[in-house]
Amino acid sequence: TERVLTGITTTGTPHLGNYVGAIRPAIVASRAPGVESFFFLADYHALIKCDDPARIERSRLEIAATWLAAGLDTQRVTFYRQSDIPEITELTWLLTCVTAKGQMNRAHAYKAATDVNAAAGEDIDAGVTMGLFCYPILMAADILMFNAHRVPVGRDQVQHIEMARDVAQRFNHLFGAGRELFVLPQAEIEEAVATLPGLDGRKMSKSYDNTIPLFEGGERGLKEAVARIVTDSRLPGEPKDPDASHLVTIYDAFAADDAARQTFRDELRAGLAWGEAKQRLVALIEGEIGPMRARYAELMAHPERIEAALQEGARKARAIATPFLAELRHAVGLRPMV
Ligand code: TYM
Repeated sequence: TERVLTGITTTGTPHLGNYVGAIRPAIVASRAPGVESFFFLADYHALIKCDDPARIERSRLEIAATWLAAGLDTQRVTFYRQSDIPEITELTWLLTCVTAKGQMNRAHAYKAATDVNAAAGEDIDAGVTMGLFCYPILMAADILMFNAHRVPVGRDQVQHIEMARDVAQRFNHLFGAGRELFVLPQAEIEEAVATLPGLDGRKMSKSYDNTIPLFEGGERGLKEAVARIVTDSRLPGEPKDPDASHLVTIYDAFAADDAARQTFRDELRAGLAWGEAKQRLVALIEGEIGPMRARYAELMAHPERIEAALQEGARKARAIATPFLAELRHAVGLRPMV
């Protein structure tokens, strides 16, 4: 069997980028025969970016409800909260001890923070916590704890998965005694949706405040967000350039097939008005997520069902993590004396 694993940081409301980049491909992958899946709420990661407990609590509920509403089948998938698996934090330490500091210096999130500080003429590490600095090691522990082969993610996570591979390789080399303790994980990227643009054309991201929420706000919220997608000022009837429009990229992510994508482009070239194009986009997205939104609302009204599912998931996850961690402790020399 092959193992597929992915997680979402619980700091905000799920948006279309999370859905097309991670949730949708992960759920599709989980339905294939011979696949064992692990999907989780990265709530330890959330603490790195957020010191608002109420927001973390709310986000955990929203993201859990989103996974379930999108079709995650808890019979097939091990679905859990990262913070329910203490083995992950212990593994993080074992990995921390074999991770080169220089490699962490090059991690995107840390580098972005230091670049901003440098540009402002401040101490490069101003405001940087050790949590942020070590973020990729915690993520490597998430992946290696369950020996995942494939990790469906958006492009912004690829570097982290490469780092997890490196750490796994080093650990195998040092402690494997010729055996592969860890599987070397591979990022799984869908080229067409690896970086879904947001309202302004930059990557859709909580931190840019340019997101289109997946379920929150209802169909009305979706319409209002789509109305705010930035387009050029060409008038109805004037030919548009589909290749220069991020609205088209978002359309592509939801279109049924290449023929539908082509038709939309042809119509824009023939002068379709942006207003009309936006209505088509709303109808397309709504066709896919509308039925899920009803399930989402139902789940949000019953947090006890979500809690029960997560506790069952934690039990399944720990049944794997506990014995594997014991093996790893033994491998590094943390063994009983007799
Ligand atoms: P996070 O919470 O920032 O994002 C969750 C997933 O959504 C993807 N994504 C996008 N994909 C396409 N276009 C976009 N605009 C877009 N925005 C977000 C992300 O690439 C990601 O797949 N560190 C991770 C969470 C994590 C994790 C893991 C993932 C923790 N441990 C282990 C995989 C395996 C994060 O912060 O993702």
